[in-house]
Amino acid sequence: MSAEKMWAGRAQQETAQIADDFNSSIRFDQRMYRQDITGSMAHASMLAGCGIITKEDAEQIIDGLSGILADLDAGTLQIDPAAEDIHMFVEQVLTERIGEAGKRLHTARSRNDQVALDLRLYLRDVIGEIIGLVKELVRVLTDRAEEQKATIMPGYTHMQRAQPITFGHQLMAYSMMLLRDIGRLQDTRKRMDVSPIGCCALAGTTYPTDRRSEAKSLGFSQIALNSLDGVSDRDFCVEFLSACSLLMMHLSRLSEELILWSSWEFKFIELSDSFTTGSSIMPQKKNPDMAELCRGKTGRVYGDLMALLTVLKGIPLAYNKDMQEDKEAVFDACDTVIMCLRVFAPMLESMKVLPDRMLAAAQRGFINATDLADYLTKKGVPFRSAYKISGQLVARCIAEDTVLEKLPLSVFREYSEVFAEDVFTEIALETCVARRISEGGTSVGSVETQVASVREALNGIQ
Ligand code: ARG
Repeated sequence: MSAEKMWAGRAQQETAQIADDFNSSIRFDQRMYRQDITGSMAHASMLAGCGIITKEDAEQIIDGLSGILADLDAGTLQIDPAAEDIHMFVEQVLTERIGEAGKRLHTARSRNDQVALDLRLYLRDVIGEIIGLVKELVRVLTDRAEEQKATIMPGYTHMQRAQPITFGHQLMAYSMMLLRDIGRLQDTRKRMDVSPIGCCALAGTTYPTDRRSEAKSLGFSQIALNSLDGVSDRDFCVEFLSACSLLMMHLSRLSEELILWSSWEFKFIELSDSFTTGSSIMPQKKNPDMAELCRGKTGRVYGDLMALLTVLKGIPLAYNKDMQEDKEAVFDACDTVIMCLRVFAPMLESMKVLPDRMLAAAQRGFINATDLADYLTKKGVPFRSAYKISGQLVARCIAEDTVLEKLPLSVFREYSEVFAEDVFTEIALETCVARRISEGGTSVGSVETQVASVREALNGIQ
């Protein structure tokens, strides 16, 4: 790489080395080399198509660029860390390789619209990858939910045992959340489908370009209609980071549950040895590190979102160098989300469920007290009175260290004449679950319906 700057000419003095290092983004934007080269190929074709450069020059440029792409892919061309950014690097290597024609590539273009284009192309691909990984996670969750559709566990509110539910129902709640996350990523990708290339530095260009054909050849369905907006817009990055933050929030809540459920206090599940670690000092330990890391890394992704929002809030139109800070936040979120999703699906797939432990927990905690009140209400007792009687019976059980279903009928009848033998089947946990047939409820049939509708939704996702 020659020491002369692309923008040499205006300056009287060389930039200080420390300023160059500070200014350079190649360390992190090199990951966009494919998108940069693809964009440049489309640009050269458009320039030739519009008669701005000759067909011969365009051919040379495109050949040169394919060579650079092949060499970078093969690792035979090393990225020069001294280059300011990936855009400068590719153009400089091209010019070294093909001479004069290479110098014509940057006609009717600026790095400002170029970087905005590269980032959109990059994110478009990554969003596709993330959607694929979330789909796989939803598939695993839904398969496990179907398998656990009749496994009774306590459902909680305030971390207190509340009502009996099935483990399948609990898992399906996460399938629903993740489906919405896919929807948000799709929305982001749809709104991002606008090409900034041709906005040039900020004001458009005097060359007779064809922005629409260039956009089309890059797979965009629209072009940015205001050049200042085209080069300054990073809304799509914020939307992406926000969709990632919500996705991570959901993974983090599930992680928290997996961590709790695998503790000795709960022991509802056991994570497989492949997705847990041991302790360097305590031989008995089996730590849910993967789930904890997913929970921890959620903070990172929120940080990326906050960092970018804060960078953008004070910058005037149009491009400002502050915007170079967008990429590290976006790339960090991409890497983090992808890593978490890759580990999450097999971790859930290999998780062992301990239904006896779940049932034992469900049998303590009076989680059929609501059903007991409902029993009375259905026999004509007003709900408030039924609620009170049910509460009194719970208090009696606590005092006698027993549970509702173990009280003899005579005790029930001390509190209300309407109690009959059928109370025992009515307050059995299986009955409590089976009766909750309202749409979205916890009954086996309802969970089956949820499973079917999520699978149908998954089939429709590209
Ligand atoms: N590396 C720069 C960035 O990431 C590319 C755009 C530079 N444009 C400029 N006018 N300095 O934002």
